[in-house]
Amino acid sequence: MKKFNRFFDEFLKKEPLFLNKEVLQSFYTPDDISHRDSQIKEVANVLAPALRMESPSNLFIYGKTGSGKTLVTRYVTSLMKKTAEKNKINLKVFYLNCKLKKVADTEYRLMAQLAKEFGKAVPSTGLPTDEVYTIFYEALDSQEQLFILILDEIDQLVKKAGDDILYNLTRINAELKKSKLSIIGISNDLVFVDSLDPRVKSSLSEEEVLFPPYNALQIQDILKKRSTKAFKKNTVAAGVIEKCSAYAAREHGDARRALELMRVAGELAERQCLEKIEIKHIDEAEEKIERDRVLDITLNQPKQFQVVLYAIVLLSEKRRNIFTGEIYEIYKKICSEIKLRPLTQRRVSDMLAELDMMGIINAKIISKGRYGRTREITLSIAQSTIPKIKEVLDKSFGLK
Ligand SMILES: Nc1ncnc2c1ncn2[C@@H]1O[C@H](COP(=O)(O)OP(=O)(O)OP(=O)(O)O)[C@@H](O)[C@H]1O
Ligand SMILES: [Mg+2]
Repeated sequence: MKKFNRFFDEFLKKEPLFLNKEVLQSFYTPDDISHRDSQIKEVANVLAPALRMESPSNLFIYGKTGSGKTLVTRYVTSLMKKTAEKNKINLKVFYLNCKLKKVADTEYRLMAQLAKEFGKAVPSTGLPTDEVYTIFYEALDSQEQLFILILDEIDQLVKKAGDDILYNLTRINAELKKSKLSIIGISNDLVFVDSLDPRVKSSLSEEEVLFPPYNALQIQDILKKRSTKAFKKNTVAAGVIEKCSAYAAREHGDARRALELMRVAGELAERQCLEKIEIKHIDEAEEKIERDRVLDITLNQPKQFQVVLYAIVLLSEKRRNIFTGEIYEIYKKICSEIKLRPLTQRRVSDMLAELDMMGIINAKIISKGRYGRTREITLSIAQSTIPKIKEVLDKSFGLK
């Protein structure tokens, strides 16, 4: 195996394209936030009176994914904290991403976490929830202070724990004597507030700030600034930023998607030992991200679901358009081959609807005249992803 002897030496000799890859990662906080001045001002205006210990409003921030909601909220609250420190105002900001498991799964857990923030230990189970509320309430109201609670992805919290928790939290607010509590809810589910109990809705969205998606030009700006820091000079070919922005703005201007595309394009170019990132790398990056997404979904689904997908993959090797009935037949065959008890056609239909929602297949209902209706299915993932899925599923079923 002599041919590999110098692999790592050669690697080190190559000039890397990246100066600092972290700049393109989503946890990185940029020092400059472009095109969000009006949202920054609106959020700041809602929160500012609290610094004078006037009753703050709750605030609901919403907008599509990648529109800068989390970034702006964290930025404004950190500025506010600086001012509070300078002026010896007792301000506490607590940021919670409600997608986090084990923290925001139940009302009890969330309240226990909040109590902990104020130095009160609450056992991880066992107390009546009311009592945990009291512990939190007393700790908060033990001195004059202002507490800003940011519940990011708040729709996830309500999905898991119901909206009672928001009702109870907003009610605490009215009972506080020395302290003040302000809740900032953030969501990319644009119809989320409408699904809430009307009392919770009016209290949470006393004030609302909408984050519109960026347009392609704004994304270009954001990308240019961050790419200059992320890549060495002259390593990004002309047109790459424009193409990347156009892709990220195709459905709605999503800055996260743009940054990810750019980072993956850089990694691909670097792996190919090239000196520049070219336009074709954006296409390759898009395919890779899509492939990783689909594979990730595939691997994390229950076995039955994987069999349905496998049946579709096998059938679509022969023909582009396939029908639900055919899928069910093949599904049953695979089940018997791998000794799995097949589910009813109805359940399989539900799984097809889910695959459709995930964007993995496209299902179109067509009428077959007096024979009723059926669904015509096509795979809607990149051609290059299909063999990979097959490989992963083969392995998962122990077929190869
Ligand atoms: N104006 C901007 N300037 C620089 N970077 C930005 C800007 N807006 C967003 N970003 C970056 O884009 C990514 C997504 O932004 P952010 O996390 O704030 O989106 P979001 O609206 O909270 O999305 P989601 O609803 O999916 O949580 C982050 O990496 C963020 O740093
Ligand atoms: Mg966010």
